[in-house]
Amino acid sequence: MDIFCKNEEKVADLYYVYADLFVTHSDLWSMISAQEREHSRLFRGLSLIDEEDASSFKINRHSMGILNYISRFIDDQLSIARSGKIDAACALETALRLEQSMIEKKCFEMFEPRSEEIYEAFRRVNHETGQHRDRFQKELKKLIAKK
Ligand SMILES: [Fe+2]
Repeated sequence: MDIFCKNEEKVADLYYVYADLFVTHSDLWSMISAQEREHSRLFRGLSLIDEEDASSFKINRHSMGILNYISRFIDDQLSIARSGKIDAACALETALRLEQSMIEKKCFEMFEPRSEEIYEAFRRVNHETGQHRDRFQKELKKLIAKK
């Protein structure tokens, strides 16, 4: 659960830096950053559920590799964002790529939890990640149309 929790936390940090950098999309970045923070809290809460449920995760090495790869991608993007060497379109592209790959790689559908609560949490995060992807896609199209 730790890696899920940390990844959402780092995505929240990344969007928070974007909110600071890009005034025109500041509200959007702040809003989505808050949602990622909420996902992180949700996952952290789940790790308190009993051990038997924890054993139902069965995350294999392949899945772990994907989660670690995404984690490193977020780290890299965070250092780029903190250096300020990024424009608004690039930030949207990065976020779009991130949310898209979480859906494509089935990050939140990697296992079948026995607990209803865990199942529901992952279903919700997966759904909202899809919404984020759609929103970034829409904003990026708008931005490109303006150019
Ligand atoms: Fe997201």
